[in-house]
Amino acid sequence: MSRKPVMLSGIKPTGELHIGNYFGAMRQLVELTRSGKYAPFIMVADYHALNSVQDAETMRAHTRELVMGYIAVGLDPKDVTLFKQSEVPEHTELAWIFDTITTMPYLMRAHAFKAAEAKGKEVSVGTFNYPMLMAADILLYDTAVVPVGADQKQHIEYARDTAEKFNRVYKTDTFKLPEPYIMEDVATVPGTDGQKMSKSYGNTIRLFATKDELAKTVMGIVTDSSGERPQNVYVIHKLIRSDAELMPLYEEHRGKYKALKDALIEDLDAFIAPMRARYEALKDDPSIVNETLLEGGRAARSVAEGKMQEVRKAVGVA
Ligand code: TYM
Repeated sequence: MSRKPVMLSGIKPTGELHIGNYFGAMRQLVELTRSGKYAPFIMVADYHALNSVQDAETMRAHTRELVMGYIAVGLDPKDVTLFKQSEVPEHTELAWIFDTITTMPYLMRAHAFKAAEAKGKEVSVGTFNYPMLMAADILLYDTAVVPVGADQKQHIEYARDTAEKFNRVYKTDTFKLPEPYIMEDVATVPGTDGQKMSKSYGNTIRLFATKDELAKTVMGIVTDSSGERPQNVYVIHKLIRSDAELMPLYEEHRGKYKALKDALIEDLDAFIAPMRARYEALKDDPSIVNETLLEGGRAARSVAEGKMQEVRKAVGVA
């Protein structure tokens, strides 16, 4: 087994990837993988997605799309262990053990739970326990770093607390404490309305969008006429160009929102085009997704099985 520190992250297969996923997390996964400093474990968090995707065909389709997405952004399946959470039953097994050392009031402090409650939603037990499954995802692999966007920070704190609690209760050093890896400038990528980009807000820019789609989405970016610089356009533009490059452009087109949006469409299209081409090409070869998941599942499972044996001994069921 590799002695390099483990990097692990995951995305829920809940639908189309957007540029918030890319800049907030996926790009860092590619960069850290290429650095060669880590042993990368990249997950399709399908059991987490079951809280919202409750149709078998949709789940299968989104799962395949996410695997293609990971590969299209530049992750080479040869270099990463890319796997489906559901193929490694140790994740749910460990989540149960964590449930037994975790209190309800502690889980009630989770942002996601509080937000759902505040909206008057009926919260499923799966949504309530979500942080424990995520803690299991991370801790099973002795993960050192977890590249994510800012919205996942609290979940990593939950994983750290849970590791500490388990080690304390069972007087072991079974679990290592993971660190979040959050890039400050892209911690929360804004959407077309200036709020956090999120599928649930309907303000996303699709990662593999065609140029026509990009044009339509960018033209829909909310601009207010109070300033000379359309802030919501600028902050998205800043994801792909430096301030130094943008200053002259925004100066030249002061107050001309249409021209600035046109420039953003061109830049986004140029940035996305190579990834989009890879994504489209992958659609023609379903075997890559199958093989990747098969290999990744096996590799992940062998690590997770080892850790679970330690856990079972520590708690006294083995
Ligand atoms: P998910 O599927 O909601 O999002 C996937 C990744 O994209 C990041 N992200 C963003 N980053 C910046 N700005 C945004 N607007 C934005 N929107 C999404 C998220 O922070 C995340 O990194 N619970 C996780 C999935 C998960 C996981 C894990 C992650 C399950 N197990 C173990 C890490 C480790 C989630 O729902 O991500």
